[in-house]
Amino acid sequence: MPGPWTSDEFWAGTRAPLTSATGLQPEAYTSEDFFADERTRLFGRGWVAVGTAPEIADSGRLLVRAVGERSILVTRDGDGVLRAFLNSCRHRGTELADADCDVAGTIRCPYHRWGYGLDGTLVATPFLDDVPRDEFAAADHGLVPVRVDTWGPLVFACLADDTPPLEEWLGDLPERMAGYRFQDWRVEESRTIDIAANWKLITENFQEYYHLTWVHPELAKVSRVKDHYRYQGPGMYCGQTTSPVSGDDRDDWLVLAPAAGLDASDAVSGRFVAVFPNVMLAVLPNHVFLIVLEPVAPGRTREHCSFLLPPSTAPLADGDLDTTRTFWLDVNDEDIDIVERGQRGLHRGHVPPGPLVPRFEEPLHRFHRMVADCMTTPSLADVVVPDGDDGSPASRLGTGVNPHPPSIDRAEPRKH
Ligand code: FES
Ligand SMILES: [Fe+2]
Repeated sequence: MPGPWTSDEFWAGTRAPLTSATGLQPEAYTSEDFFADERTRLFGRGWVAVGTAPEIADSGRLLVRAVGERSILVTRDGDGVLRAFLNSCRHRGTELADADCDVAGTIRCPYHRWGYGLDGTLVATPFLDDVPRDEFAAADHGLVPVRVDTWGPLVFACLADDTPPLEEWLGDLPERMAGYRFQDWRVEESRTIDIAANWKLITENFQEYYHLTWVHPELAKVSRVKDHYRYQGPGMYCGQTTSPVSGDDRDDWLVLAPAAGLDASDAVSGRFVAVFPNVMLAVLPNHVFLIVLEPVAPGRTREHCSFLLPPSTAPLADGDLDTTRTFWLDVNDEDIDIVERGQRGLHRGHVPPGPLVPRFEEPLHRFHRMVADCMTTPSLADVVVPDGDDGSPASRLGTGVNPHPPSIDRAEPRKH
């Protein structure tokens, strides 16, 4: 039986205008059935981040990733082309790999040793010709391809053929952040953290600075509430900026050298962008703290965290990243503590959703409507890519005037 989230009533508070909107219903964070539908309808159809480009820099590397209900393989073929496939042998369906690994040019099924090139072509079928089959063509039995694309250091996959291309999904974000030249940044260090909270609570928390003063007293010294503005053009993302980033009280996150070649705005700003559904990017002039969310259960999420550095930063010596790392992991621990409390409160209290606070929680409203669209539209070809903010101080819902507004031309809103 379909869950109540197929009804308009379930999403009424989400569809309401910002000034009368409420948050999502508690089932969206706690229900096994909602989680299962979300895995199919949202993660099974959207552009989902599955890793970083440096992880798959070399031909012969094989990444194994969960996307929606599927397991996929990500490879780079002999020509350097990034590819993805369902992780199932075309003989009798066996899982080809159960963990990231290196292969010597051929992906071998462990069962009967059928072999596939890194471009997915079936190249080996032991003993198949001993008794020839009728009309067998290897070309008909290559690995099943999955859409894959990149933006900067991020690799995205999409299981649905009719979802708009990644370029449209991201909207103006690549243009907006082009000055960073992320494609050249390197992954300096990564770690994985298990969190006892729904993935949406984690990204929602990232999207608002309402909690900054109380949850992050140290962060609030360098990322002051009054210096925050929204940073949203048309595209499937929610963003805010701190401009300028202050180093007055603490300079923990400014100890590394800034990236070469940034414009006047990027050079003094922090950009905090949540790409729908599972990427969180904290972009500073000298580093990026990247989080990719992997939903595991309604109340469990795996966070894949990486520190990215620009090419102009020389190789670090031991200890050079310590201050930056400690700063972010302390902030992240504070966020984890509060979102786990959020999960416990929703799970045990199951209270109806409360009002969104318009000044701070417009990005959540935008995010909730993306969730609602994915959960209710028959095809993501019809997903509504949100418009951008109009840029006026009033619409930013911050205070004061941004002294360094992003220096990009506004793109036309895109809709499908
Ligand atoms: S199932 Fe893969 S070779 Fe038989
Ligand atoms: Fe936070």
